[in-house]
Amino acid sequence: MAVQGILKCVILFSLLANCVLTLSVVNVRDHGVVGDGITDDTQGLLRAWEVTCKSSSSSATMHFPANLEFLTRPLLFKGPCKPRNITVEIHGTITAPSEPRQWRCRSTDCDSWIRFSHVDGLFISGSGTGTISGRGEKWWNIKGKHRPAALRIMSSKNLRLSGLRFKDNPRMHIVLDGVQGARLTDLKIQAPGHSPNTDGIHIGDSTNVNIEHCTIGTGDDCISIGGGSKNMTIHNIRCGPGHGVSIGSLGKDGANDEVENIQIRDVVFTNTSNGARIKTWQGGKGYARNIAFERILCQNSDNPIIIDQFYCDHETCVDHNSAVKVSGVTFREVMGTSKRETAVKIDCSKTVPCEGITMENVYLKSNRHGKKASAYCSNGRGKVFGQVVPKVSLNFG
Ligand SMILES: *[C@@H]1O[C@H](CO)[C@@H](O)[C@H](O)[C@H]1NC(C)=O
Ligand SMILES: *[C@@H]1O[C@H](CO)[C@@H](O)[C@H](O)[C@H]1NC(C)=O
Ligand SMILES: *[C@@H]1O[C@H](CO)[C@@H](O)[C@H](O)[C@H]1NC(C)=O
Repeated sequence: MAVQGILKCVILFSLLANCVLTLSVVNVRDHGVVGDGITDDTQGLLRAWEVTCKSSSSSATMHFPANLEFLTRPLLFKGPCKPRNITVEIHGTITAPSEPRQWRCRSTDCDSWIRFSHVDGLFISGSGTGTISGRGEKWWNIKGKHRPAALRIMSSKNLRLSGLRFKDNPRMHIVLDGVQGARLTDLKIQAPGHSPNTDGIHIGDSTNVNIEHCTIGTGDDCISIGGGSKNMTIHNIRCGPGHGVSIGSLGKDGANDEVENIQIRDVVFTNTSNGARIKTWQGGKGYARNIAFERILCQNSDNPIIIDQFYCDHETCVDHNSAVKVSGVTFREVMGTSKRETAVKIDCSKTVPCEGITMENVYLKSNRHGKKASAYCSNGRGKVFGQVVPKVSLNFG
């Protein structure tokens, strides 16, 4: 009896011990970080990360206090880490040196400014005030040079990113690359409409990603979805200025790109060059399928709806017979105004036509008085439901 009782106790105790969650908070200021916006805090931030990542607690928090400005050159926050969950709590502002040469990086390791790699269970929280400010103005003027992305998260699972602001970064603001399971909410991303390649959020090779309640205005795509992206939901987004929400570009230089199960809904585009867009290069392989754009409002967009299988960003592009297969694309309840006459453009490859295009309740007007909007459709097959204005002639199939 007594032995059994003791055994029970031992089992219970060890169960409890396993369940106890511990939390450690690492204030970056305790690791030599100054936060005056003048001192280079790079080394201090790397030390604070080491301590956070090696903590023996089940959850660890790296804390950036409010009202401070943390000046830093490129950072690599590397995992795997010991805690199951890591929170990076940013209240102040993280800023980059304003002169590109002060970044002191070679072109090879300058693809990003703040990079997280192999960190599972990462939560980056800005509580609405935390700001990532890359001071990209000088970078934007450098022609042909590789410009760094601001925040890049690579090879990680279960990411959360919320309440952060991003401002004027040299290139893309947020990049997810090889991320499985992510939730991005309440982000505010801003850069001038003329700033080159400053996409708001770019995603590639990532699955099960959810983006919601974000306001994005930049010089490139608000959100762009590259090859290897599957199972994504994007909703309640305000986009503009910028190039819209794009799938692609896919199939560049003959690449095999696969994108599927993407739902984009409740998006307002204001003064964007495109709205809902799918762009693929000639000569690519793979597919973009099961994609829905629903409840989209375009205010003054150049091209509200566009599928372009002849995407090319330079002057001479050769014709090819292969293309990324586009199928199962729905545009439902797309309303608003178009700046160009062609409000709907579906321009698909002759050898690999677009199939299963659904247009349902689309109403797009020209924003010029007395002008009518029109639709262009080549090699697109599918069906039209409800009221669709301008009239789109999809081949049946
Ligand atoms: C760790 O993060 C995951 C995913 O974000 C979350 O579901 C889980 O509750 C977190 N666990 C702890 C101990 O905070
Ligand atoms: C996408 O979601 C479906 C259905 O929820 C699931 O069966 C599939 O495994 C997911 N794909 C990936 C790559 O996670
Ligand atoms: C959109 O562009 C119009 C005309 O160019 C301008 O008046 C308006 O303020 C812009 N709207 C936004 C939200 O930028």
